[in-house]
Amino acid sequence: MRQSSLVVVANRLPLDDNAAPDGACEWRRSPGGLASALHAILQQTPATWIGWNGGIDSAPVLPDVGTLRIRPVSLSSEELQGYYEGFANSTLWPLYHDAVEQPVFDRGWWETYRAVNQRFAEAAAELAEPGAAIWIQDYHLQLVPQLLRELRPDVLIGFFLHVPFPPPELFMQLPRRAELLRGMLGADLVGFQRPQAAHNVAQLAVKLFGAEATDDQITLDGRTVRTGAFPVSIDVTEMQALASRPDIVEHAEQLRADLGQPRRVLLSVDRLDYTKGIEHRLTAYSELLRDGRVKVRDTVMVQVAVPSRERVDSYRVLRDRIEGEVGRINGEYGRVGEPAIHYLNQSFDRADLAALYQTADLMVVTPLRDGMNLVAKEYVAARSDNSGALVLSEFAGAAAEFEDAFLVNPHDVDGLKETLLQAMDADPADLQRRMAAMRDQLQRHDILAWARTYLTALDHTGRLAAGLR
Ligand code: UDP
Ligand code: G6P
Repeated sequence: MRQSSLVVVANRLPLDDNAAPDGACEWRRSPGGLASALHAILQQTPATWIGWNGGIDSAPVLPDVGTLRIRPVSLSSEELQGYYEGFANSTLWPLYHDAVEQPVFDRGWWETYRAVNQRFAEAAAELAEPGAAIWIQDYHLQLVPQLLRELRPDVLIGFFLHVPFPPPELFMQLPRRAELLRGMLGADLVGFQRPQAAHNVAQLAVKLFGAEATDDQITLDGRTVRTGAFPVSIDVTEMQALASRPDIVEHAEQLRADLGQPRRVLLSVDRLDYTKGIEHRLTAYSELLRDGRVKVRDTVMVQVAVPSRERVDSYRVLRDRIEGEVGRINGEYGRVGEPAIHYLNQSFDRADLAALYQTADLMVVTPLRDGMNLVAKEYVAARSDNSGALVLSEFAGAAAEFEDAFLVNPHDVDGLKETLLQAMDADPADLQRRMAAMRDQLQRHDILAWARTYLTALDHTGRLAAGLR
């Protein structure tokens, strides 16, 4: 077994075989921001990525991606239910996103979550060379840091949470709160998207364990864990290059023509998830149409809603509600050949997304809560002529970096309507100024900067970061 000096452990691998319901192996890029972010930096790194490939009871041998070795972990149907659909995505996911959907506390899921975490920890322990660094990602694997410490006391252990960490009063609802927190604090460095998360964890460590804690470090059982904010980002160079490719520019022009050459195109791109605020957005847009403040011939909205976690009840119910609402809006306000909303329940590749971003005069990113939101950053990266407007939720991590977006509280439908109109009618010079400022911020904080900063904080020698392209 060849071992690596850097092992990344994430529930998701960068490749996903969900796309093949007939059993045929048909690889595609995995959904979501975690896979996008890590894929962007790890392709040229001598590292191993351990994760689930999206299938049931399958761990096929996967091709290396450049110098990155891919090692799948198999999940059975029961594990998928208890660990992924259950504890991770029906308990932790809603709880960590302000409980915008009611978290489910099912006592049967915990043991499966713990057992799957143990399996990931064992796989990582086996593939790490002596003194290696193991970088664990996200809420699915919150017990792995502590489990690994027991298996491999010689390695450096990093943990990064891509989603928000909730306020103490919400976290305290968790029946297994102490085990989960202790699991995560098994790391040497725990990274979050926002400083508030580190603050919440420090408060909890004091409350639950009587630890000594500040927002930068927690001392527990005689060991010090460092914590901090490391806002994740995107591969800016890649998105810029895609957006200026002649075939993609042509594709964007074609998309606009296909949309009927409207004066304005509004775009939203989300996984179909209740945290993304899709329903609030549809309500706001439908009321603008009802009030005659937006006209179908003049303005079109494109909503990409990527299928996600479709075996989880709340996601199925949400999809039905959204599709019902889109149907209602189109039925009421659309015309023959001119729907009010172009709704696409499918996943697009990076090139198609770059063309969509080019087509959009207004990017509407209005999650109710989001760790970061990489789509907002991708849109900004794609606008190399500084045109376009970003309407962005205050509750997305990206809002802390994009002060020049049109910031909005998505729960306030009237405020959302006004902000949409404000962005639609903004002076082009103001839009240019805002976009230039956001692009400047993004250039200085791309995905490489994120990974370098985190890995250098993990291992002060700079050895790990040196491997990044
Ligand atoms: N994405 C994609 N195809 C699509 C829609 C989205 O590849 O059709 C990617 C998108 O480019 C982004 C990621 O999925 O990199 C979504 O990340 P984000 O942080 O916005 O949200 P998440 O899905 O992680 O909650
Ligand atoms: C978010 C999570 C990731 C997850 C992604 C897609 O970005 O932070 O950990 O991979 O959503 O969700 P999925 O359940 O399809 O992996």
